[in-house]
Amino acid sequence: MQTEPVRFVHCSDIHLLDLSGTWPHELFNKRITGAANLVMKRRRYHDDTRFEAIKRAAESLKVDRLVVTGDLTNLSLPSEFRNAARALHETSLPVTVIPGNHDAYVRSAYKKGLFEAHFGEFMEGERPTEAAYPFVDRSHDGIALIGVSTAVPTPPMDATGEVGAAQLSALEVVLTECAAEGRTRVVLIHHPPAEGASKPKHDLLDRAAFAAVVARCGAELMLHGHEHKDMHTTLAGPDGEVPIFGVPSGTSIDERPGREGGFALFELGARTFHRTRYAWRGDGFSPVQAPLEGSWARSDSPR
Ligand SMILES: [Fe+2]
Ligand SMILES: [Fe+2]
Repeated sequence: MQTEPVRFVHCSDIHLLDLSGTWPHELFNKRITGAANLVMKRRRYHDDTRFEAIKRAAESLKVDRLVVTGDLTNLSLPSEFRNAARALHETSLPVTVIPGNHDAYVRSAYKKGLFEAHFGEFMEGERPTEAAYPFVDRSHDGIALIGVSTAVPTPPMDATGEVGAAQLSALEVVLTECAAEGRTRVVLIHHPPAEGASKPKHDLLDRAAFAAVVARCGAELMLHGHEHKDMHTTLAGPDGEVPIFGVPSGTSIDERPGREGGFALFELGARTFHRTRYAWRGDGFSPVQAPLEGSWARSDSPR
């Protein structure tokens, strides 16, 4: 049972760039489209130093964990994975990550398991099958952090994701087990799982099957990234609506409301939670509004 509130910082889509040591042949295939796009656009949208600022802010907020919901890289280059792993090591906080579509940007990186090779230590937990996902981190009293992967290689100009039948059935087992243990289940998933949350070619292809698992088994909270904007949606669960939150890109320099770089601070109690979004305000992060409060109407008896 949870006795103390658990506090964590949720950020996403940091898209750290590092092209060092990259050979021209590595930029062929899908990356040539992505690289061209990147060179033209990225500097206008991201500043890697913002992630350094997020880590320092999370440390000074004295949270229990830093959570990053995917798209740590841009082109899934080995140099990018090394650079992002180094950036995650440079904090005293425990870190949990899951992959995003940019972390499986090309088939070769996906097949070699580059994300898992570089970030395995940030995805510790129990696994119901031999597969890397889903995983369950039970290191905080009363909490189950459940990591799901939607990262699959896709054709150019396609940013879709997929959980897959095998992972969905393992997820069903995990959600049921953690409910029986009375844990607050926090599902981490890169693509937003609510209906209409993403446009075609940017969406979760088996969203309906994922929603059906949630309808049967429930969850207390879901966190995502991918859309690079602040989002609050829900999915139907057996005990009511499951709250779902997405954050803007952590390293964004976009100043439009809801798209500013930053993070969300969560404080989870046994039956309630608070979420406060922090946005960059020129010289640091500040809360955007008063904390949003939510509660869970879950049944006391194990399902
Ligand atoms: Fe992204
Ligand atoms: Fe994404």
